[in-house]
Order: sequence, then C-alpha cells, then structure tokens
Amino acid sequence: MGKWKKTAGLIGAMLVAASMVMAGCGSKDTGKKETAAKSPAAAKEELIVGTEPSFAPFEFPDGKDGKIIGFDIDLINAIGKKMGYKKITIKSMGFDALIPAINSGNIDAAIAGMSITDARKKQVNFSDPYYDSGLMAIVRKDNDTIHSLADLKGKKIGVQLGTTGAMEAEKIEGAKVTNFDTSDLACIELQNGNVDAVISDLPVLQYFLKQKGSSYAKAVGEPKKGDHYGIAVAKDKKDVLDGINKAMKELKDSGEYQKIYDKWFSESK
Ligand code: ARG
Repeated sequence: MGKWKKTAGLIGAMLVAASMVMAGCGSKDTGKKETAAKSPAAAKEELIVGTEPSFAPFEFPDGKDGKIIGFDIDLINAIGKKMGYKKITIKSMGFDALIPAINSGNIDAAIAGMSITDARKKQVNFSDPYYDSGLMAIVRKDNDTIHSLADLKGKKIGVQLGTTGAMEAEKIEGAKVTNFDTSDLACIELQNGNVDAVISDLPVLQYFLKQKGSSYAKAVGEPKKGDHYGIAVAKDKKDVLDGINKAMKELKDSGEYQKIYDKWFSESK
C-alpha cells in the first residue's frame, strides 16, 4: 500500500515538473493571451484547449498520421467555431497537468472526458455536462475469480493517474493500485499480466473491448453510473465559460451535437 502511494507521489511530482517545463515553453502563448484579455476582439483569434489523448473514442491519435481525433475534439472544434474563434489548437499533456495548465493560463480550457467532481470544482469551473458516463472494471478473459468490484479486494489494479478511476480503486480494501500515465498503458499491463484489473471510464473501456480489447479482456460487474463530463475553464474566464455553454446549447438544439455523438457512438463503431 505504502509503496504504490510513494510511486504515485513520485510520478505526480514528475508530471508537475513536466507541466512546469511545458508552461515555460508556452510563455509566448501566455504573453499573447495577456494582451488578448485586454481586447475581447483579439481573444477570438485562438482557443487553446488541453487534453490527454489516450482516451478513445473521446481523444486519441489517428492511426494514420497521429493527429488527435475523437468525440471531444469534434465537439470542441464545433464549439470554438460557433464562438467565433479563427483557430482551435489542441495541446496534449498528462491528465493531471490539465487543471494546473488551466490555472497558469497555458490553456484556455480542457476537454478530456473530465468528470465534474466537487474537488475539481474548487479549482476550475465546468461547462454544462456534455456526456453521461460512469466507471467500469475489466479483467483478463481467462480470469474466473473476479466477477465484481467486490472481488477486487487485495488485487492489483491499474488506473490512470489523477482520474476518478484511480480514486475508486483507492477505496477498495487492500488493493494494490498502480497509477499509469495513460489509460492505454494500464490496459497493456493488464494484457502483460502485471495487473489483475483496470478501472476506467465505462464508454472508454466499452470502446476498447469493441475495438481490440476483447481478444484478451472482458468486463466484470455492474458499471458505476452517474458521472458527467464537463469542459473545464479557469475560474476567472467567465466569458469563455459562458461562450462554451451558449455554443453547446446551440449545437444541441440544431442537432449538430447529435451528429457528432452518432459519429463516435453509433452501434457500428
Ligand atoms: N473521467 C475520468 C476523470 O475525470 C477519466 C478521464 C481521463 N481522461 C483522459 N483524457 N485521459 O477522472
């Protein structure tokens, strides 16, 4: 127990350091945005959005050219366009670097299948919910001892660092939780036999099983529902938040949101 916590702490510290380096590299952007804040017209030039792209079908690299694609990316592009931005830039970083990047002004918003939680609401504002989600556990196909979350007591569980899945795993008695930088890595370690289970988001694991995962993994137990994704924005960027909510409502009313939804979540996917 103590050991993984230490490891998690270390990885966390490394990511903080990494995000500080990234913040340093982005100083040009920050400068630009400070000016932009003074003149609202200029603020419409570019919307810089952070994400952690190991979360298919919400954000993941396209197999062909590595460009980040997915439901979240289509949604934020449609929102940004509606808000009148000329350019929407997607910046990739560690999941737990997103909130610090919002608050340092390095990015204007984050869209990353991020669940709206009370703890996060203390640090950032969230848009209206745009996707209903939940948590699920998967194990290797040949595992016949784990049938539910309750069976995970004392087991080795892989999660993505800083996620709600990680928090859920930490609640399980005696579980040895390993935090990975990406959710893909957690699944690879499940395949390799280094963890007994992975806890992550329901739609992401469902997509993973459909795409390739079912060759070695299967879902167990009942999913834990009642989670909602929101777009995170700095507390002092009320105008950006209002713009996002207004644009999202328009996209929902016009059916454009539904089109994007169907593109990524239709049965054939
Ligand atoms: N919904 C979960 C959370 O908010 C997981 C999100 C992980 N997202 C990602 N892009 N890797 O903690």
